[in-house]
Amino acid sequence: MTEKKILRALKGEILPTPPIWVMRQAGRYLPEYRATRAIAGDFLSLCYNPELAAEVTLQPIRRYGFDAAILFADILLLPQALGPKLWFETGEGPRMETTTTMVQVKALKSRSLIHETLSPVYETLKILARELPRETTLIGFAGAPWTVATYMIAGQGSKDQAKTHALKNTDRETFLALIDVISNATVDYLSEQVKAGAEVVKLFDSWAGSLKGADFEDFAVKPTARIITALRERHPGLPIIVFPREAGPNYIGFAQKTGADCVALDNLVTAEWGAANVQKDGCVQGNLAPKHMVTGGKTLVRETRAVVKAFRKGPHIFNLGHGITPDANPDNVALMIETIHSA
Ligand code: CP3
Repeated sequence: MTEKKILRALKGEILPTPPIWVMRQAGRYLPEYRATRAIAGDFLSLCYNPELAAEVTLQPIRRYGFDAAILFADILLLPQALGPKLWFETGEGPRMETTTTMVQVKALKSRSLIHETLSPVYETLKILARELPRETTLIGFAGAPWTVATYMIAGQGSKDQAKTHALKNTDRETFLALIDVISNATVDYLSEQVKAGAEVVKLFDSWAGSLKGADFEDFAVKPTARIITALRERHPGLPIIVFPREAGPNYIGFAQKTGADCVALDNLVTAEWGAANVQKDGCVQGNLAPKHMVTGGKTLVRETRAVVKAFRKGPHIFNLGHGITPDANPDNVALMIETIHSA
C-alpha cells in the first residue's frame, strides 16, 4: 500500500500536487455541520459526543475528499479537564474560570485525572480510525502551553494577551508553574490521542505572535520542544505539526529548535518568504488567506495557484493561513481544491 500523502509530505517528500486539508474544515460554513450541531445542542456537547463529533469530522472528508481529517474538539477541553469551568457565550466565544494565583495553580487537577473528562475525545478518535477512508490521515491536536495559558489567565480570548503578559512579568513563579502544569497534561493528552488512533499531532500556538525576543524562546519554543521530546520518547517517529501563528521572523528555525516535522504558516507571511526561509529546512503547511473562501472567483484561483507555485520545490501541505470562517462559501472550497489539482 502506498503511504498516505500527508505522511509522505511530513517525511519530506515533494509530491506532484500537495496534499490538502483546511483548518476548521468541520465548521459552521457547512450546512451539514450546523444540522449536526443542532442535534447535539451546543458546541461543547458536540465535542463530548463521540458519535456526533466523529460525524462532523467526517463531513468535510465526504464532501471534499481532504487528505487529512482533524479530530473535532477544541484546545480549551484540556484546561477544562484540569478543573476550571468552560462555557461559550453565543456570538462572543469562549469563557473560562480564571487561574491567576499559585493557590489556584496548585488546586488544578493532577495530570493523571484529565482522562476522566477527556475520554470521549479518545472515543471519537477510535471511531474515526475505523471509519476514515484508507488514504486519509487522522490528525489529533492540542493548544500550545502559551496559548492555553492566555485563556486560563484572562478567562477569554483577547487581542494583545495583556493579562497573560502582566502575570508573566509580575508573578513569574505562578506563571511558570501554570505553563508546567499545562505542558505535562498536554503530553499525556496527546499521547492518549495517539493511542486512540491519531497518526499526526498538531500544536496550535495561536497567540505566539505576541511573544517577543527572549519571551518567544522561553514560552513558544521551549514548551513546544519539551512536549515534542516527551511525546517522541513514548511514540518514536510520531509526526508533529506546529503552528506558532504570527511568529513572523521567529518562524525561521522553529522546526529545528522544537523538533517538529512541519511548520504551519499564517497568511501574514508571503508564500515566497515561507519557501525561502522556512521550507528550506523541511515541510511547511499553508498559507492561503481564509478570506478567499468568502470572496472566491478569479482572485481565489490566482492566489491558490501562487501558493502552490511558491512551495513547489519543497515538501508542502496545502492549507489556509488560519481557520476557515463561518461566512465561507462551500463552493469556494471546491474551487480551491480543483485549482490545486490542476495547477
Ligand atoms: O480544525 C478543525 O476543524 C478541528 C476542530 C477545532 C476547533 N477549534 C473547533 C471549533 C480546532 C483545531 C480548534 C482549535 C482552537 N480552538 C484554537 C486554535 C486555532 C485557532 O483558531 O487559532 C483556538 C484559539 C480555539 C478556541 C476557540 N474555540 C475559540 C476562540 C472559539 C470561538 C471562535 C469561533 O470560531 O466561534 C472556539 C469555538 C470553536 N472551536 C468552533 C469550532 C468549530 C465554533 C463553535 C461553534 O460551532 O459555534
